[in-house]
Amino acid sequence: GIKITTIGGGSSYTPELIEGFINRYEELPVSELWLVDIEAGKEKLDIVGNLARRMIQKAGLPIEVHLTLDRQKALKDADFVTTQFRVGLLEARSKDERIPLKHAVIGQETNGPGGLFKGLRTIPVILDIVRDMKEYCPDAWLINFTNPAGMVTEAILRYTDFRKVIGLCNVPIGIEMGVARLLDVDHDRIRIDFAGLNHMVYGLDVYLDGVSVKDRVIELLSAEDTSSFVKNIDGQAFEQGFIRALGALTCPYHQFYYKTDEMLAHDLKNYEAGTTRAEVVKKLESELFERYKDPDLAIKPPQLAERGGAHYSDAAVRLITSIYTDKKDIQPVNTINNGAISGIPDDSAVEISSLITKDGPKPLVLGDLPVAAQGLVMQIKSFERIGAEAAVTGNYDTALLAMTINPLVPSDKVAKVILDEMLEAHQEHLPQF
Ligand code: NAD
Ligand code: G6P
Ligand code: MN
Repeated sequence: GIKITTIGGGSSYTPELIEGFINRYEELPVSELWLVDIEAGKEKLDIVGNLARRMIQKAGLPIEVHLTLDRQKALKDADFVTTQFRVGLLEARSKDERIPLKHAVIGQETNGPGGLFKGLRTIPVILDIVRDMKEYCPDAWLINFTNPAGMVTEAILRYTDFRKVIGLCNVPIGIEMGVARLLDVDHDRIRIDFAGLNHMVYGLDVYLDGVSVKDRVIELLSAEDTSSFVKNIDGQAFEQGFIRALGALTCPYHQFYYKTDEMLAHDLKNYEAGTTRAEVVKKLESELFERYKDPDLAIKPPQLAERGGAHYSDAAVRLITSIYTDKKDIQPVNTINNGAISGIPDDSAVEISSLITKDGPKPLVLGDLPVAAQGLVMQIKSFERIGAEAAVTGNYDTALLAMTINPLVPSDKVAKVILDEMLEAHQEHLPQF
């Protein structure tokens, strides 16, 4: 049977994953699932682990669920490792969002200043996990869901010789499903050529049954208020002429860059009201865990769909299944570029539609991004590369450089003020500084 190890097992997303394994059991016969967490997450791990056991029992499947704080034991002989942890928990996310906002800068926990700090906290831990994997399960695949997924994948590619890593995000699958809804067709009839970076991905073409419907989808997207396909970001339509001239589908996170003023105003309102996304999620999470405690509950509760990561199990489990069965279908993942997108370094992580084989993802060679997108994509890529370098070296100037070149940060002075405050606020989770 297959052994799966999930690090950050106490996450409220775990029932998503369980549902995915249950639904695909015939193709992907998982025999052991090891959920790993740390002391601070022990209570959540127990609650969600027991719900996982009830879900599996209800489905009548022979999947053993192990709950542990011993990561090395959990990794021993694993076939697939998934990561969904949050160093510093939601309290740290709140600081990632609020400290920049105090200085009228969008925090954004993935590609903004918040994302830099989430990366600085996460990268040392992921590099430790990779070291453990090389010792305890060298043949396993690492499916990293932990944000900032682009910077984290970049760090593994550039600072280790471990290559069996795939970064995963639910945004592309969310866009596919949103487009399918818009066209009122089944999801499996839609294919999108995705290319770009994590949370900075473009749909270069859209096919319905293999025929391009890009222009129609662009019209529909700009006519309606459906530019957002994830729950954590409110959708606002872009100017029709802008998207027509761009000639590609955008992702919800593009609003931070192409509607910076509106997004900042929106976030500042929440800052004042104490309702930034971290605060909203804290409340959602405690409601979810109250539900999870119910001994009669043996399904994924519908409230989980209010989290931004909805459909993540579909993305993760279909990816693992295609590697396991050598399916060679096309899925969007974060993997090494190797020339697939022109202008991005070969050794960098890109988010791109790829053929999924038993040897991992083979990116489609999609060539040039639209001219209008190239500059921003490279800017974010440079931010990810320098951010990863700062995380590995603990060098202050490198961190200041990363903060300063982030497109959401207006000046070097503001960058320094935010950097210094955040370094202090997050000190306990930044051993390298
Ligand atoms: P969460 O706050 O519930 O954290 C998950 C668990 O991680 C907690 O139980 C916590 O105790 C544990 N943890 C913290 N540090 C750990 C460590 N060093 N080792 C092992 N476990 C540790 O987080 P969440 O809201 O469920 O999100 C989990 C992660 O998934 C986050 O990093 C989030 O950004 C990411 N995420 C990614 C996507 C995507 O599209 N890639 C979507 C949703 C969430
Ligand atoms: C989206 C993104 C994730 C992000 C999540 C936040 O789906 O793809 O990378 O972490 O939303 O959701 P949350 O409910 O935590 O705000
Ligand atoms: Mn994501």
